[in-house]
Amino acid sequence: METISVHASRDYEVRIGSGLLTRTGELSAPLIKGRHAIIVSDSNVWPLYGSMVQASLEDAGFQVDHFIFPAGEQSKNTDALVQLLTCLAQKGMTRSDGVFALGGGVTGDMAGLAASLYLRGIPCVQLPTSLLSVVDSSVGGKTAVDLDSGKNQAGCFYQPSLVLCDPALLASLPEAEYRAGCAEVIKTAVLFSPELFQKLTEAPVREQFESVIAACVGMKRDVVENDEFDRGQRALLNLGHTIGHAVEACSNFTILHGEGVAIGMAAITRAAVEKGICDPALLPQVLDILQKYGLPTEVPYPLADIQKAAEADKKRSGSVTNFVVPEALGQCRVEPVPAGEVAGWLKAGGIR
Ligand code: GLY
Repeated sequence: METISVHASRDYEVRIGSGLLTRTGELSAPLIKGRHAIIVSDSNVWPLYGSMVQASLEDAGFQVDHFIFPAGEQSKNTDALVQLLTCLAQKGMTRSDGVFALGGGVTGDMAGLAASLYLRGIPCVQLPTSLLSVVDSSVGGKTAVDLDSGKNQAGCFYQPSLVLCDPALLASLPEAEYRAGCAEVIKTAVLFSPELFQKLTEAPVREQFESVIAACVGMKRDVVENDEFDRGQRALLNLGHTIGHAVEACSNFTILHGEGVAIGMAAITRAAVEKGICDPALLPQVLDILQKYGLPTEVPYPLADIQKAAEADKKRSGSVTNFVVPEALGQCRVEPVPAGEVAGWLKAGGIR
């Protein structure tokens, strides 16, 4: 088992190891004073792992309730958030009890936000079950729900009390979910680590889950410790996300987040090469690795739709849209693009 300590507005550990989910109760009990737990999960994940987590919590002396919502990004909205908050109140949860987010990014984001709001904050344990949430969203304390106007537009920073990453759960991931998670792993490698990039070309992520997860979590930890509240370096983690979120929104969220990030990474690398910012050798490397992992690299929507969605994205500040652009493998920067130049960037990214 690997343990990565995060020092932020709340200090906590990310533990990585096969079988950890069965130890949820034992590992959480010392961190949560109360003995009332609510497991938040979705209709896909709950039938798979709900009883395992519930039994572990009960063995550690917790009274366990649950809140299950329909799987999918469409559920990550203010209505579901209010239902969850109401459930916490109806179950009589107190400030010393705990919310357990069992699932992927949608579950972690929404449960984390509810935990931050309910009674002005109760402990939250993240139990990520998708590759994407293990390597990215469960660590770092970003919580949110979507608004009609855009993804993750209502949220806050609220660090978890503990994150348990159990790679054994990932073996049974549906292929599309696995590939989508690989996009975030590839993103981390392009951002920070030629070594990780090389590792991903040598063997598939699924053959090296534990070491790849530890590498990604370690790099994310470093970013979060430097810039917890996303005022500087943390923005780099949005590589591929401005165009990616726009693609997701245009697809009405039928395109998975990781697929959007893959498309966004390919497009912004094309644009950065075209603008003379990026080493041209990086583009074939990025396209090759994305294709190797079965990820899409072309934007399937017209420029006008992508531009509208990109400009609604929260990564805009004032009239400027912040694109994260690669310069070389392991080196990226934030490029503030004025409103009048966004269309030119999108065209340079191959969007017509
Ligand atoms: N997923 C991006 C971040 O945590 O900042």
